[in-house]
Amino acid sequence: MRWPRGFTGRLCFGGDYNPEQWPEDVWLEDVELMRRCGVNLVTVGVFAWSRLEPREGEYDFGWLDRVLDLLHGGGVRVALATPTASPPPWFGFAYPDALPVTRDGVRLSHGSRDAYCASAPAYRAACRRISTALSHRYGEHPALALWHVHNEYGTWCHCEHVAARFRRWLRRRYHTLEALNEAWTTAFWSQHYAEWDHVLPPRATQYLPNPSQLLDFRRFLSAELLACFREQRDLLRSSTPDVPVTTNLVLGSWVPVDQWEWAREVDLVAIDHYPASAAGLAAEEETAFAADLARGWAGGAPWLLMEQAPNLIYSGGRMLPKRPGQMTRLSLSHIARGSIGSMFFQWRAPRGGAEAFHSALLPHAGARSRVFDEAVELGAALGRLTTAGVADGPVEARVALVWDPQSWWALQGPGLPASDLEYWAAARSVHASAWRLGVTVDVVAPGAALSPYRVVLLPCLYLTAAATAAAVSAFVASGGHAAVWYLSGVADVDGRIHPGGPPGPLGDLLGLRVEQMCPVPDGTALALTTGASGSLWSELLRLDGATSMAEYAGGDLAGEPAITRHPVGAGAAWYVSTRLDEAALDLLLAGVLRDAGVAAAASGTQPGVEVVRRRSGVIFALNHTRDEAVLAVSGKELLSGARIDGELRLAPGAVAAIVASAP
Ligand code: GAL
Repeated sequence: MRWPRGFTGRLCFGGDYNPEQWPEDVWLEDVELMRRCGVNLVTVGVFAWSRLEPREGEYDFGWLDRVLDLLHGGGVRVALATPTASPPPWFGFAYPDALPVTRDGVRLSHGSRDAYCASAPAYRAACRRISTALSHRYGEHPALALWHVHNEYGTWCHCEHVAARFRRWLRRRYHTLEALNEAWTTAFWSQHYAEWDHVLPPRATQYLPNPSQLLDFRRFLSAELLACFREQRDLLRSSTPDVPVTTNLVLGSWVPVDQWEWAREVDLVAIDHYPASAAGLAAEEETAFAADLARGWAGGAPWLLMEQAPNLIYSGGRMLPKRPGQMTRLSLSHIARGSIGSMFFQWRAPRGGAEAFHSALLPHAGARSRVFDEAVELGAALGRLTTAGVADGPVEARVALVWDPQSWWALQGPGLPASDLEYWAAARSVHASAWRLGVTVDVVAPGAALSPYRVVLLPCLYLTAAATAAAVSAFVASGGHAAVWYLSGVADVDGRIHPGGPPGPLGDLLGLRVEQMCPVPDGTALALTTGASGSLWSELLRLDGATSMAEYAGGDLAGEPAITRHPVGAGAAWYVSTRLDEAALDLLLAGVLRDAGVAAAASGTQPGVEVVRRRSGVIFALNHTRDEAVLAVSGKELLSGARIDGELRLAPGAVAAIVASAP
């Protein structure tokens, strides 16, 4: 991990700044207002390619020179972006073969953003040229703190360039066509390939496409986009070795990026996060999940929240304003969980364009606004945390959750026993349960070392390699506790069903096998003997060593085990064969945690009071509820400077960061 240049130990605060959308006199006001709210880092140039290179090979850097000088004069540093996420209109006219093609064969035009094919040689060359030009021009600029390559890699294309590169990637993965035929089960529906040149990207076809082909195509896109990133990163690194390079990773079901692989390639893991719902505490829970994911990708090291919305949450087709104080709380949740800053999209709300109504730190209403006032408060709070020396530090967690983007992709494939097996929702529900129970979770990759933990959670790990199962089994045998959810251990990494069916290589660990998957129609409540209730999914289990902890209470599975526990060595492995409702999930997880001797980060708090401990002894407490919360703690509260003796009373919506001392 590398800090932005000049930021070591200092929290970053700011966001995307698009001066190219404004006349120069507005820039002066921008810098003045940035100073007022303590902004110290802005991302510049993300979508400025057409202003930087208005015609091919003709550069206009004058305006950016003035912007960078002005920011530097105002004490604001710059994450300088390469603008490659949005080629200018001339690009598609010069290189029509470098425009992207949909799976239906439609070649897209410019008019939005991301109109390029990442495999087209002309696009790659144009990216190299503009990033080289930027690094030569600004490598020595004192405002430059970080290179921000591209924006949210994640585009798809199905053109001939892609087909050729996909085949090349497949040859490297499989070496022989026979191995590919085997991995893709091409004996099914007469898909056996006799020539490499006949292998295509998954374009529109008559009926269900081949799921293994789809899965490999996502892997290929991840590798191909990563190659684009690396190309720019290496150019930038070679001209400015002392400036770290990153790109902003984004979460989404459409994103063909395996963040575990990408995280190894960046100097600083950076994410964008836009919660998908404002209902209840959904945004708060999701923020904690996204932050834990980012910390996981960073291997526990500090990372950076590069973008969030200052004041809106897209929710059910509406842009809902954040509640008063929510922007600060969500920002501090990210920081508590390891972010070295709170950055936003965007600084100033634009006059027009497709995101004219997107919120900004400086809204259309101007600086006399609640959101700007909150930005000033947040800037001050981040300044106090920096002064107190708590900009980073490892987070304490004794529970790991295995996150696998490739299982997510596989569970979006065709022909599954249910069409709505949402991996993201399943993983998040388990994480959210831990969040409600006040337990901090580290997110880890399949096969990761589990020795630092007491509990490992495996929600719906559809693709389970033998090595992953072996790592979890060894962890449990040495005293760890595992909880595994339905749909785990179904397929190998090629997406082929494990012989004998699920849970495949997890069978010995769990002491059972799944004889039959039994999805149920929407609206069917699956009553369990414990009074709990499940939905969506059930299974007919055959136990082979495991003990039933709860049975199905009715229907065709009446009396059959629904939740099991298998003691193994000094540990235990639990299995959950249905999608439990929230209360039942909390009860189950509380039991697993108790079994493993894992307690909440603070005792006596209610759901919605988020407590995160750093190994240094710093405690972050965020009260997302509408009631006062009381925490047993002593020490110094860093935001107010107050001394706390034994009891912290946290008002509704309040946040605290405490350097704990013995009571
Ligand atoms: C992000 C993107 C920004 C902006 C924002 C709107 O995903 O990086 O450029 O579009 O979404 O929420």
